[in-house]
Amino acid sequence: MQMKTKVLGVGYCLPDKILSNHDLEKMVDTDNEWIIERTGIRERRIVEPGGKNSDLSVEAARRALQDAKIDPLQLDLIILATASPDMPFPSTACIVQALLGAKNAAAFDLAAGCTGFVYALTVAEKFLLSPEVNNILVIGCDVVSSVIDYTDRNTCILFGDGAGAMVLGKSEGECGILSTSIGADGTGAGLLYMPAGGSALPATHETVEKRLHYLRMNGNEIFKFATKIVAQTTAELLSKAGLTYDDIDLFVPHQANLRIIQSAMRRMKLPPEKVAINLDLCGNISAGSIPVALAQHNEKHPIKNGANILMVAFGTGLTYGGAILRWGRD
Ligand code: ACO
Repeated sequence: MQMKTKVLGVGYCLPDKILSNHDLEKMVDTDNEWIIERTGIRERRIVEPGGKNSDLSVEAARRALQDAKIDPLQLDLIILATASPDMPFPSTACIVQALLGAKNAAAFDLAAGCTGFVYALTVAEKFLLSPEVNNILVIGCDVVSSVIDYTDRNTCILFGDGAGAMVLGKSEGECGILSTSIGADGTGAGLLYMPAGGSALPATHETVEKRLHYLRMNGNEIFKFATKIVAQTTAELLSKAGLTYDDIDLFVPHQANLRIIQSAMRRMKLPPEKVAINLDLCGNISAGSIPVALAQHNEKHPIKNGANILMVAFGTGLTYGGAILRWGRD
C-alpha cells in the first residue's frame, strides 16, 4: 500500500476585533454596498495594536494539536507559511516552536503569500516520505493588517488577520493527500508587493514617509490571473488524483473575492453546500485563508470520512497551487 499524508487535527484562531465595511466607510472613500458587490466581504478580523503573528499561530497550533491528540514533543517539523512574520528574523516558526515546547521539531517559515498554506502542505507531504519524520505541524498565518495602508481603498477593504493549523501524519489507508500541485510565475512579482523593508530598499525615514512599507497591489491583473490559474490548477489536481468534478465533496478555495470563487463553482457545477466560504466575515487572510475556512467549515458541518476536499490558492509571487485531500484519520 502506498504511504499517504493524512490530517490528524485542525485548529484556527481569529482576533476578536471586528473591522466592518461601515468602519472602513469612515476611514476611506468607499461604501458597504460597493465592497459587498465587488468582493463579497462584509467584515474582517484584525489584531489590536501589539497583536502579532505568533500569538495567533500558537493558539491555532494548540487547538490543532489538541484535535490530533498529539503532544508537541512528538512533532518533527513545524512549517509556518506567512508573509507577515513577527519580525524578519528569526523565523516565526522558531518562536512558535519555543512557545509550544516542541523541542524535537525543526522549524522554518515559508514565503508564498496567499498560496503559502498549500505550498507548506506540499512540502510536508514530501518530508513525510522520510522514515525520520512522523508528525508535522503546518500553520498558515497572516497579520495582513500590519502591512495595510488604511488610506488606500484599493487594498484596505480586502484583508483580515488570522491563523489556521493542521497536524499531519502518515497513513497507509484510503485517507490522506491524493494530489498536490504548486507553481510560480515570477514575472508577476510586481503585481503584489511591499516595496521597502528588505535588502532592496532598507527602512529609512524616507521609505516610511513615502509609505513604502505597505502592501501594493494591481487588483485587476491579479483577478484575471486568479480566474485562469484556479481552473488550470484544479484540472491538474483532478487529473493527478484520477478524479472528476463530480467526485469533489468540498471545495475550499482561497478566500480572495467571491466573484473568483463563484466563477470556479459555475465551471465545476458545485452547489453552495459543497463550498467552504468565510470571506464574508473574515476577508482575505492570505496564508491563513484556506486552513481557517476548512477548520471553520468542519466545526459547523463535520466533514464525513472519505470526503474528497479540493483546495486551490494563488498569491503574491505570483504563486499558485493546491491539493486534493481525502478526509479521515484511518
Ligand atoms: N470603494 C469604492 N470604489 C473603489 C474601491 C473601494 N474600496 N476600490 C476601488 N474603487 C474604484 C476604483 O478606483 C475604480 O474607479 P475608477 O473606475 O473611477 O478608476 C472602480 O472602483 C473600479 O475599480 P476596479 O479595480 O476595476 O474594481 P474591480 O471590480 O476589479 O474590483 C478588486 C477591485 C476587488 C480589488 C478586484 O480586482 C479583486 O478582488 N482583485 C483580486 C485581488 C486579490 O485577490 N488580491 C489578493 C491576492 S492573493 C495574496 O497573496 C494576498
